[in-house]
Amino acid sequence: MTTLITNIKELLQVRETSISKVSGAEMAILPTIKNAFLILKDNLIEDFGSMENLPDINADKVIDATGKIVLPSWCDSHTHIVYAGNREQEFVDRINGFSYEEIANRGGGILNSAKKLNEKSEEEIYEQSKLRLEEVMHLGTGAVEIKSGYGLTIEGELKMLRVIKKLAKNYPISIKATFLGAHAFPLHYKENKAGYIDEIITKMLPEIAQNKLADFVDVFCETGYFSVEETEKIMQAGIEFGLKPKIHVNQFNSIGGIQAGIKFKALSVDHLEIMNPEDIEALKDTETMPVALPSCSYFLSIPYTPAREMIKAGLPLALATDFNPGSTPSGNMNFVVATACIKMKMTPEEAINAATINGAYAMGISETHGSITKGKKANLILTKPISSYYQIPYAFGSNLIETVFLEGEILK
Ligand code: NIG
Ligand code: FE
Repeated sequence: MTTLITNIKELLQVRETSISKVSGAEMAILPTIKNAFLILKDNLIEDFGSMENLPDINADKVIDATGKIVLPSWCDSHTHIVYAGNREQEFVDRINGFSYEEIANRGGGILNSAKKLNEKSEEEIYEQSKLRLEEVMHLGTGAVEIKSGYGLTIEGELKMLRVIKKLAKNYPISIKATFLGAHAFPLHYKENKAGYIDEIITKMLPEIAQNKLADFVDVFCETGYFSVEETEKIMQAGIEFGLKPKIHVNQFNSIGGIQAGIKFKALSVDHLEIMNPEDIEALKDTETMPVALPSCSYFLSIPYTPAREMIKAGLPLALATDFNPGSTPSGNMNFVVATACIKMKMTPEEAINAATINGAYAMGISETHGSITKGKKANLILTKPISSYYQIPYAFGSNLIETVFLEGEILK
């Protein structure tokens, strides 16, 4: 099946040769072709170029994109889409003055979601989660990472990872799975933290590795959750089971999680709302992608990741949603891109780089996703007629997406 898209007003994120990520000054450059064509063959990008060079081909389907923009699908490298129920009462509690931390200390927060998840069957969790996945697919996300971490028991964690696996099997979106057993300490382990870590390492990890249920291992490294030492122990064990680390750090406090992540060659360090100069320095010249989650900052009214300082220091940056019931009940990457521009002062070019190719890097899939490159997945966004790609962050509350392509097919 060959699809030809003609007269594209502007084709974004065009990379003739495959790159894995963009850093520092490169973040400001978004390569594009104006008045372009794009050819999709089966599930891959076959060819692209200027309309002047349109080859003579027999396409099964021709789409005229006059006035419209095409870009690679969003690559959302950090989500917790699989969960049960919601936490809207905590949302109202926060409006009434309680902090995220106070709510968690009263047994709310992650433990509240863990209770709900363990009460539901695998089937019910799948049914709830698939609706969120379908929603983000229609919002232009073409690759997504999904974490466990609301089970906090061996049964619960395996149940979540099986749901992620089933979503990956049943939907055309690319999915990576992350084991986040170290999301919080379950109540019955409150006085025996070493006991829970032991359960993660000796019970959960072997079972997960044996059943190939995860690609990555994650830890919530934060005051009141997992210390740097505990985080290192879990990363080390994860690596021994073949799982590369991708960790939650510096959401509320800078306690050395970034340095720990780098030491264990984490693929990404995520959140980064609180960054000191040493944290930025540590990330220089490493293979670890910093990931910002601006919708979380927005929803919790906490600081935004200091993107300007980080980019100025030469670092790359990726953007992701953090879609979860507690800190970010939204999986809208268009809103993430807009918020990064509006609140973090990223330029549209930087934000689009961060939400496509750098997001792909943060999931280990930049060879196949995140840019318009021959041979990469035909996962694309075709916009409605718009004046320029600046509209994407500018018209922050509007849905500018007309058509989504996943694996070369139009998403219905
Ligand atoms: O990334 N920070 C830790 N974990 C999630 C929130 C978890 C929750 O509140 O349910 C996050 O923000
Ligand atoms: Fe998260």
